[in-house]
Amino acid sequence: MPPDTLTPRDPRCEFLVTPLGVGEPCPRLSWKLESTERGAVPSASRVVVRADESSEAGWDTGWIAGHDRTSVAYAGPALRSDTRYHWEVGLRDAAGDDAGRARSWFETGVLSPAEWRAVWIARDTRTLPPIPVPQDHDRSLRCEYLPPPLQLRRTFTAGDVRRARVHVTARGVYRLRLNGVRVGRDELTPGWTDYAHRIQYQTYDVTDLLAEGDNVLGATVADGWWSGFVGMDARHQAQQYGTAPQFLAQLVLDRADGVREVIGTDGGWRERQGRIRYADLLMGQQDDARLDTPGWDRPGFDDSAWPFAVVAGTDTTTLTATGDEPVRVTAELPARSVVQRPEGFLVDLGQNIAGRVRLTVRGAVPGQRIRLRHGELLADDGSLYTENLRSAEATDIYYATGADEEVFEPEFTTHGFRYVEVAGYPGELRADDVTGVVLHSDTTFVGEFGCDDDLVTRLQANIRWGQRGNFVSVPTDCPQRDERLGWLADAQIFAPTACLNADCAAFFARWMRDVVSGQDAGGAFPDVAPKVCGCLDREGAPAWGDGGVLIPWHLYRTYGDRRVLDLSFGAMCAWVDHVHRHNPDLVWRHRRGNDYGDWLQVDAATPPEVLATAYFARSARTVSAAATALERPEITAHYARLAAEIGSAFVEEFVGDDGHVHGGTQTGQLLALAFGLLPDRLVDAVFGHLVRSVEERGNRLTTGFVGVALLCPTLAGHGRADLAHALLAQTAYPSWGYSVVNGATTIWERWDAWTADRGTQSAAMNSFNHYALGSVGEWLYTGVAGLDQAPGSVAWREAVVRPRVGGALTRASAEYDSVRGRFASRWQVDGDTFTLDVTVPPGAEATVYVPTADPDSVRESGDVLDDAPHVRGVERTGEEQVCHVGSGHYRFTASVRH
Ligand code: BGC
Repeated sequence: MPPDTLTPRDPRCEFLVTPLGVGEPCPRLSWKLESTERGAVPSASRVVVRADESSEAGWDTGWIAGHDRTSVAYAGPALRSDTRYHWEVGLRDAAGDDAGRARSWFETGVLSPAEWRAVWIARDTRTLPPIPVPQDHDRSLRCEYLPPPLQLRRTFTAGDVRRARVHVTARGVYRLRLNGVRVGRDELTPGWTDYAHRIQYQTYDVTDLLAEGDNVLGATVADGWWSGFVGMDARHQAQQYGTAPQFLAQLVLDRADGVREVIGTDGGWRERQGRIRYADLLMGQQDDARLDTPGWDRPGFDDSAWPFAVVAGTDTTTLTATGDEPVRVTAELPARSVVQRPEGFLVDLGQNIAGRVRLTVRGAVPGQRIRLRHGELLADDGSLYTENLRSAEATDIYYATGADEEVFEPEFTTHGFRYVEVAGYPGELRADDVTGVVLHSDTTFVGEFGCDDDLVTRLQANIRWGQRGNFVSVPTDCPQRDERLGWLADAQIFAPTACLNADCAAFFARWMRDVVSGQDAGGAFPDVAPKVCGCLDREGAPAWGDGGVLIPWHLYRTYGDRRVLDLSFGAMCAWVDHVHRHNPDLVWRHRRGNDYGDWLQVDAATPPEVLATAYFARSARTVSAAATALERPEITAHYARLAAEIGSAFVEEFVGDDGHVHGGTQTGQLLALAFGLLPDRLVDAVFGHLVRSVEERGNRLTTGFVGVALLCPTLAGHGRADLAHALLAQTAYPSWGYSVVNGATTIWERWDAWTADRGTQSAAMNSFNHYALGSVGEWLYTGVAGLDQAPGSVAWREAVVRPRVGGALTRASAEYDSVRGRFASRWQVDGDTFTLDVTVPPGAEATVYVPTADPDSVRESGDVLDDAPHVRGVERTGEEQVCHVGSGHYRFTASVRH
């Protein structure tokens, strides 16, 4: 066998590619598998880790037998801070011969709080001249007291440096520069975490930016989530965590002579306002380019008039390494059109995004004021519609220098928008003067769904754009209005779709820590995490608080991430115990927090106790499964029993002998069916009610956030894939297609965010970029294209390939680069021939369902199934031919009836 027919690839540390600043004492090292051959299975794997310094002992796992290991947690000698570790994974093939290898590295950050020399620094408000009194047109009332960001600088001398790293963070959002060059390309760092418990620091390699002799570190720090507006707390600058931004950085210089020098932030830094008058995530940024002090971030600049910063604190115990992919610029969109209107130029990007605009200005007079307002749609008269942003002003203002050409791009704000109104622009604004800059957490997109139906194709694009627009440091509900919070229900409902589109292992696991920190002493998870004070600081509602149970479980199932399960497990149990304690008769009637119910359903309110009790059962069952995964049998049994009892209480209380679920809503029926709450004798009857409810409405849904994801899988799972396809193809209100045919480029918050007869819904709550209803994306992969993880499988050890052929589609495909390797399911119907291409990575297996009424017609790469290599266990079930395959590529053909 040539050496690389079985190869590890995509080596990662803590789910990230060659991360700097790893903070885990026992980081997990993982890899994926690929092979050019069928039936490839590793028989053993071996990982070797060694530090840069040859003196340090390494770690060698030795050959570990087994075919399904694709990760290992480091368990060698204690890692040292600020050190690069190289590692290599090797494989043996089924015959026991050496196969491929992959190499990678990671670097540690500051592993112990005691190693921080840096302290928090801030503006010395005693020495700073007062903020210039705003002109009357300068700022809105809300922005009146927003302070200018800190602009900090520090000169230091460096000798012959071999390696330089900087660990940097802020209470606020920062950008760092070294000798005039921006450090890194991350945005809105350090990201949003529950700052009361943890603040991430970022680590950058700055070796190449250093000079021998004088160097200057410069930082700009704005309020961000720390002290700026957050959520709907519009009374004042929310100041959720503090009243003014602070900064902390530690530069580690390894000199050629072997000495390590550490330079931390201290009272020797100088600070003075720069060109930014204020910057706020919700309100926008105001720049006065005339206030710029060129060279402030380089050596040789005279800073003697700059006051010294003050030391604002020395507590470094909350500092944690960055756990996930930071927000970055991931795309740039050209303006699609520009029209001139009385208010200014109106620019259409053609796509609703989260991010900002880069504007080129030519021929302005010095001090010319250019204002950019952002919005998701246009009002009836063609002007920019901003009412649905509520108190978020989403307005950037630029005072020009008057240079021939100047570029404005705010760095400490983000907006959710498709249209930009540019007022005060000198002369004619051209489309190429405007670029839409797309920002989001830079998770790798690992899934692709495709099909030959334009409506469904656009729907999938909208789902992905919804994900991009709302994965901005935390999973938010929406990116535009004064909210942008990490709502737990939205996240748990969308997580399965999100994790098929992108690798969200690190993103969600990092956020889960804030979900757990948000739990109160009685065990209640919050509705939103990071937890915010004010009206949202309360016990989580059914389906909202349950996110704290369901998300870690989904991460474990999808990524095999046992650590996130371990870290969350106590909190998961406590949540179920909390509900149980207040509802000893097992019907969840009490302590339902804000009890949102099936949020934004259509004239079909599910009785809150039905929804709540169903979720109570589901969470109890999930905790039981988690206990099994963590090898805690006593706990498994306890919660399994509880789940069964809640299920019985649900049936007794809410389900009639005729299968009527109290309330009679689609969501009530779906919860009963999908959460497995029904005894066998009632399943058909309840399903019958569901089908009737959909059909009687002319193939339309009534589900809100909570029921929507269950709809298509449940219909298809009980033999009515045709009805699931009919819902998918529906374009009348309410349906996914309705928003698509009405021009949506993202998923709307409400089914009726806009209707032809009524126009826009109430501006009080009407986002055009909310991912929850896009949770049907999961079914596009798992149902339409037919690629899913098998029940009971973890980390995609076993897949099910079961395409639900139907609707107007003649082909569909899903590709998914799982933690184990690449899976694919691609089908097409051509005349009366059905073709299904299946890919399974080494070490994994799949059960394949070939839809055909004529089992004798089925072939795999031309062979009848019984003779096809690596195809096993062929069974016939009704209209499908079922078989099991190991890794490799397979092509099934069969004849189909039309
Ligand atoms: C948010 C949601 C959230 C809900 C709670 C809304 O304001 O936008 O997506 O889940 O409140 O009901």
